[in-house]
Amino acid sequence: MPHIHIIIRHGDGSEQDLTLAVPQGTERSLQDLAIEQHLKIGGACGGLGLCTTCRVKVLAGGDKLPRLTRAEKDFRERQLLEPDERLACQFSPDADFTCSIEK
Ligand code: FES
Repeated sequence: MPHIHIIIRHGDGSEQDLTLAVPQGTERSLQDLAIEQHLKIGGACGGLGLCTTCRVKVLAGGDKLPRLTRAEKDFRERQLLEPDERLACQFSPDADFTCSIEK
């Protein structure tokens, strides 16, 4: 069962940690999995890959994540998404990884 470690960085400099245990083979997005744990990650476009409010910074384990979606590639090509960032609404995590979000 993969585990996702999310570091939540607040504007005042404080941090919180959240670890999600993800059912093997889940088809739910990181955004949906986080919402189940009462953590909202962006969502301005309703999870359609049209904004970048759900960006997460991948700190470890990024090489084991699913490939970039077309939406993520488009945002990277337009330099609206950094090389170490993913969109939480666009992939289903199927391996351990660590990321951070800004709140
Ligand atoms: S919620 Fe808009 S791109 Fe993910």
